[in-house]
Order: sequence, then structure tokens, then C-alpha cells
Amino acid sequence: MTLIPADSMGTPLTRLDGYAKVTGTAPYAVEHRVDNPLYLHPVQATVARGRVTAMDTGGALRLPGVVAALTVFDAPALADTSDGELSILQDDHVHFRGQLIGAVVAETAETARHGADLVRTEYETEPHNTELRADDPGRYAPDQVNPTFPTDTEEGDVEAGLAEAEVSIDRTYTTPAEHNNPMEPHACIARWDESSGRTEVTLYDSTQGVHTVRSTLAPLFGLEPSQLRVLAPHVGGGFGSKGAPHAHNVLALLAARRCAGRPVKYACTRQQMFALVGYRTPTVQRIRLGADRDGRLTALAHDVVETTARVKEFAEQTAVASRTMYATPNRRTSHRLVALDVPVPFWMRAPGECPGMYAAESAMDELAVACGIDPIELRIRNEPGTDPESGRPWSGRHLVECLRTGAERFGWAGRDPAPRARTDGDWLVGTGVAAATYPAMAMPGNTARIEFADQHYTVDIGAADIGTGTWTALTQIAADALGCAPTAVRLRIGDTDLPEASVAGGSTGIGSWGSAVVAAARAFRREHGDHPAAGAHSSAPAEENPDAGKFALHSFGAHFVEARVHRATGEIRIPRMLGVFSIGRAINPRTLRSQLIGGMTMGVSGALHEDSVRDHRFGHIVTHDLASYHISAHADVQDIDAIWLDEVDEHSNPMGSRGAGEIGIVGAAAAVANAVHHATGVRVRALPITADTVLSAGVQS
Ligand code: MOS
Repeated sequence: MTLIPADSMGTPLTRLDGYAKVTGTAPYAVEHRVDNPLYLHPVQATVARGRVTAMDTGGALRLPGVVAALTVFDAPALADTSDGELSILQDDHVHFRGQLIGAVVAETAETARHGADLVRTEYETEPHNTELRADDPGRYAPDQVNPTFPTDTEEGDVEAGLAEAEVSIDRTYTTPAEHNNPMEPHACIARWDESSGRTEVTLYDSTQGVHTVRSTLAPLFGLEPSQLRVLAPHVGGGFGSKGAPHAHNVLALLAARRCAGRPVKYACTRQQMFALVGYRTPTVQRIRLGADRDGRLTALAHDVVETTARVKEFAEQTAVASRTMYATPNRRTSHRLVALDVPVPFWMRAPGECPGMYAAESAMDELAVACGIDPIELRIRNEPGTDPESGRPWSGRHLVECLRTGAERFGWAGRDPAPRARTDGDWLVGTGVAAATYPAMAMPGNTARIEFADQHYTVDIGAADIGTGTWTALTQIAADALGCAPTAVRLRIGDTDLPEASVAGGSTGIGSWGSAVVAAARAFRREHGDHPAAGAHSSAPAEENPDAGKFALHSFGAHFVEARVHRATGEIRIPRMLGVFSIGRAINPRTLRSQLIGGMTMGVSGALHEDSVRDHRFGHIVTHDLASYHISAHADVQDIDAIWLDEVDEHSNPMGSRGAGEIGIVGAAAAVANAVHHATGVRVRALPITADTVLSAGVQS
């Protein structure tokens, strides 16, 4: 792998889109100026399972300002109905409560909402089941887990390894459903234009990948890709929930088709998002560890039961990190799904690794306590020389350095291993550590184009900036690859009219798009030299990574947390948190730090707050707004810091980077849980850890 020189890379260039964002001139999805827009409000099913038997839209259509109403009985037909989540209004079946079954389109958003409220719907209900139980007799093994991992793995003889163990741990941990709540709700403007005699459709969308939206939705509507243009120059967060189009996009397009000529705006309400845009599956995870007295693992088993939807399968890869994390001769992982009458689970920051490493790194802490070994030392003793899963050498496994660096910075030395050893008035004070890993993947299908004119290089690729810093980091990569200043680069992203780009997901964005930008820059310099003529242009696809099959490409990290738990009230505070990461080159330290701290904050949020509570009598999430679905706010996050090792990965991509959007959240919840245990002696094995759980576990005694 030939790396590009780092000149702008590594400098904390301020966000190039920052000024437009803080002055309110960066257009988000529904803010794009369109002529004569209509507004959509959906009709959602109020039963969890059954059939729609009647929909009376008369009242809505009589309301002044209402332009159209769509129902399951009269909506335009889709060309492809194979996707159970996206195929809406095509038949009368209700698969989950909140499912989209109609829409009212009107001159204002308020009128549309009023109209939707006037639609009278009747159902024939069927019994439903929305509750995940680990012993559900219907649980099954999917063919694979996301994206293409084997469902189960077994190495050696786990039962024999457990039997010979001198110390063993057998614990079950649970995590709740969680919902992504990006600041910008899911939203789009759909315009269906047939005025030229050829159908041309435009979708301004809040998405992590314009080309993904196009390739998914065009066939649904029987369109050629060239007939559907998707634009998303600015996106207010996604965390995975905007990694693919959801049914709200289909509804907006169906309505736009019905109202051909006029653009239809649909911004999901916060409450609608709890039924429409995916969520983190709840999990039940049994972890068994066997070790000798010195803490060396003899066996590890990580068995997961989790939710999928009856209407479409989603199989989260919860146990995959346990396949590569530690050395042990005997290792087993498995995933089982329970199909329920619920919306389809989907991606949420580090799907798989995040809930999986909460359980696995909690169990490692329990093992450390059982062996009487410092939890950092326990992890160091179980370091694998090569990837236990693939047998390949690591491109750069620096977990031990992360742990040691963090221990020194955080002040780990001299820690009394006994729980409840430190108090400060009525506060019990403890510290915890947990490790993290996340794969460094690359997405195929990226091309960039570069054109020189007016002393500037215009760099085009349909990438996304979901708040992560793409505008800035890709500009820096382009500058270094072209050998020019960042001010000489004009980047264009977020439009399917630009060269094809993969989704901002799996922490692959900057690495994958950046590889295409580097390939295009190299082609440009080869073809046009360093003094190009105006109009000179080149384009090239990202080169395949020759090292991808030779090395195990993973990032690593270590979280250190101080927890304070109030003896009388059970209140939990996190005054201090430090993450140390090994993520390859830091392309932009400013946006990188923001990603890592954001991930850690979201990890604390999952540890202490986030809980999508489903009322199984009716099948919906009752904590469906930001008043009842708690997310870490400023007051919850005190001294939180992220640092990274000074490092370049020569095997990952031409920038030497490994991606950092997700590793910050992985393991963070375990570090919190381990710190709460150290403070209180109470081991909570169900997230979120709340005041009432530590109180009922006897923290006062
Ligand atoms: Mo992220 S959950 O891979 O968009």
C-alpha cells in the first residue's frame, strides 16, 4: 500500500461547513427551496397485528386545504414488493403497531396532520407478540448475521475447556431496545415530474448515502437509476438509522406520484421515528468464561438471543467481537433470533460490537474479580498474537498500549481492587475499565472525479457528511493527494449526479471515499501533471486494498470511567471518563476527537439512560419522545476526553486511517458498569443501570 504524504492530514482544520451550519444557511432535507410544496402526514396502524378492513377518508378530503389521501386500498402499486419493510400500502396487512397505512397530503403541515386525524380506520385484529424471551420456542438461527458473518462459530471444545477451568463465570446480560435520535429527524422532499414526457423523480433526503437510497428505491418504483436523483448535502446525524431508506421515503414518493408536479415534504415527527426508522435490537446474552488461576482463558462461549421482525429479517452480529478479542483454545459464539410483531430492527452505532462488548467486557471484569487479578492485567494476559478468528497477523493491534497509556493518564495505579473501598461523603466512588474493538472495513463501489479550472480542483464524489466531518476530512485528503492547499480544493458531495459513493456506515466512509479521491488524484496527476490546463479532468475508482486478505484490520480502544453512586438515592454520576484509541492515522484531529467523544457519550447514554420501553399489551414504544426516552445531556457528561496513539496503518488504505465513527461507543457501557460495581459492589447485568436498579440491589446496605 503506497500512502499519500500527510501535509494537511493531521492538522485540525475547522469544519468547512461550520459557518453555513451555525448561520442556518446549510440546507437540511426539508429546507431545500422548492416551488409550491405540499405537506404529508401519515396514518399509522393502531393495532400490532391484523388487517385493515376499512379506511374512510371522507372527513379528511372535505377539510379545506387537503389535496389527497392515500390508503392501503387505493395507493399506487409498487413494481417490487419483496422488501417487507418498504412495501407499504400494497395490501391490508398490519405487521406492527405504527406501520404506515395511509397519508394525507395538504397545503400546510398542520392541515395534513389534522386531515390524517380525521381518517377513520377499522381493523380485524389478530393476537400479537412483541416480547423477546430467551426461551421462546420459535427462536431460530438465521443463515448469517450482519453483514455476512457466519451465525455460529466453534473452535476447539468449549465444554471441555470450561470443565478444566479453575475459575469460571456463567452470566447472562441483557440490553434493551434503543432508538437513534439524530437531531434532524428523518425527512425528505419528493418530487415526481412527468412534464417532459419522461418520468423524473427527485428526492431531497436526510440520508447516510444518496446512492444507496437510489439503488434501493428506484426498482421499487420501476424507475431506472437515472430517473431518480437523490440529494443530501447536509445531514443532521444518523448513527445508522439513515443508512438505508425506510418506509417514510416510500410514502413520500407514493404521495408525490399521486400529486405529480408538486413536491411533497415529509418530516417525521420525533414520535413517529420510534416506529419507522429502525432501532437497536434488545439482546439476551449468556457468557461463559473458563480460566486458569492466573486468568488465562481456557474457554469462552458467547450465546445471543435477539429480536427480529416477522415482516423482515434483521440479524445483529452481537457476538462477533468475541471471535477476535482474546486468545483461548476453545471458543464458541452463536446468534438466535425471535421473530416478533415489531418494526424491523436496524443499525445503531456499532450494531453488534456495542451490545456484544457490553456483555463480554462486563464478564471479563467479573473474571478479573473472581481471579483476584487487575482487570487491565487480565486483558494483557489474554492478548492473541494473531487474529484468533482468521489466523492473520494484525495490521496494528495496539490494545495493550491503549490500556497502559490510559492507565497512566487516568491514574489507575494503586487502585484498591475491593469494591466500596472509596467514599466521598454519601457518594460511593469507583473506577472501571473496558476494552473495545471495531473492524476497519472498506466498502466497494466508490469513484471520484477531479477537474481543474480557475486555479481550483473540483473534487466530486456522492459521499455523505452526517455531522462527522466529511466535508473537511475529504478536502484534506484531496489536498494531500493532489499536492495542493486545502483552499485549492472545491469538494462536492451528497448528490447522485456525482460519482458513485458507498454509505456512511460501518465506520467506512472516509476510508472508502478517501481511497477513491486518492485514486482520482493519482490519475489526474499522471494524466495532467502538476500544471494542468483549465478543464483537465480525470476520474478513477478506488483501488482494491491488496492487504485486505493478508491482515486482520481492526481498531482497538480502552475506556476508563470513574463512577459515583449516591448511597441513599442511588443516583449515578460519571465525573470522569477517558478513552484511548488505536485507529490508524488521525486525518483531522478536531473532527476525530468529536467522533470519539460522541461515541463515548452515546455509550454512557446507553449505560445509564436509553431504554425503549415497549408496552406489550399494545405493541408500541411508550418512551417515544425526548421527555421519556432519556439521552445523555450536557449535565450528564463532565470531564470526558479521548486520545489516540500516534500511528499510521500501512495496510488499511492510502491514508493509513481506520475509521473512528463507532469505536468510541464500543465497550463504553461495560466500563461504566464495571465502575459502578467497583463503587458499590453491585453488579448490574441489565442495561440501563438506573438508580432504582442499584437501590433494589442493596446499595444502601
Ligand atoms: Mo453506522 S450504525 O454503521 O451507520
